[in-house]
Amino acid sequence: MSIPLSIKWDGKQLIILDQQKLPHEIVYIKLDTLKDVYEAIITLKVRGAPAIGITAAYGLAMEAQSYKTNSMIDFLEILKKDAIYLGESRPTAVNLVWALNRLLRVASQVDSVTVAKQLLMEEAIVIHLADEESCRNIGEFALSLLVDKTKVMTICNAGSIATAKYGTALAPFHLGKERGKEFEVFACETRPVFQGARLTVWELQQSGVDVTLITDSMAAHTIGAKGIEAIIVGADRIAKNGDTANKIGTLNLAILATVYGIPFYVAAPSSTFDLSINNGEEIPIEERKAEEITHINGNAIAPIDTKVFNPAFDVTPSKYITAIITEKGIIYPDYVKNISAQLVDTIEKGEGL
Ligand code: MRU
Repeated sequence: MSIPLSIKWDGKQLIILDQQKLPHEIVYIKLDTLKDVYEAIITLKVRGAPAIGITAAYGLAMEAQSYKTNSMIDFLEILKKDAIYLGESRPTAVNLVWALNRLLRVASQVDSVTVAKQLLMEEAIVIHLADEESCRNIGEFALSLLVDKTKVMTICNAGSIATAKYGTALAPFHLGKERGKEFEVFACETRPVFQGARLTVWELQQSGVDVTLITDSMAAHTIGAKGIEAIIVGADRIAKNGDTANKIGTLNLAILATVYGIPFYVAAPSSTFDLSINNGEEIPIEERKAEEITHINGNAIAPIDTKVFNPAFDVTPSKYITAIITEKGIIYPDYVKNISAQLVDTIEKGEGL
């Protein structure tokens, strides 16, 4: 039993777990070019906000090694163009532009192309390693909140394979397993592309955590029927006031948690906060292609040319969130006050590239 990893850097090559093929095929693929990385992100071969940021950082740093110029001005111009290209791959997860901005900043602080190339690679590695550490800390804080709870529901995959390791929402389950605390996790399948069924169920099975799959529409019934004690989810972008974008269906769970009187926790590293926006209305919501809804595994389940609305994320107003768990601690309401108190000195804003 072991916790699966989705991103591997061996000092020269970027290797990712092809999450499109899970759970039936475990295939690692090499990403060589910026275009490979862009394609891997938009096709969800790599997905989950922190994993997208880490992969993009490696992609940009690798691509920069091939720039032919010795002029720092030209170097930064090409770097910025490539960062913008990658940054447009998925709009909601702020970790993507956060990571790319970190690389741009590092490169802009030196006046030698050779040094910049070296620092870009180093920064990508720092982002990768720091995310594992963050997730471990999130897991510790989440475990402290779940200490007297066993039955917990989640949606999508905010797990090890969505991050460097451990995950955010799934971190307490992996850490709990290592320490002999047995959770009973209920995973919503997560329509339209089944990150819950394909990824969370697989990942938790890999580390020996008890997991039960339900369809998204079974959540309300299951909370009552199985005595769910808490819900924990990840995040793609958290505004200054705590409003949180996460996989479509998260809002339903937050409302259910409020009605049933159980805690609703959001687990996310500080790189997922966007302090440049005041509330969730400013979060861009990715809309994906109709086929994700009209087809399953290439088979049509709806009439040809059916009109479709396919938002990949929704925004949960912070009033439904019991607490936000970061690597630095647990944030409770008042979110406007407490988010900036915990994070304002330590993270960069998620402004555009
Ligand atoms: O479309 P996806 O699979 O990238 O969506 C992922 C999620 O919504 C996750 O919950 C979020 O990115 C947090 S991952 C630690």
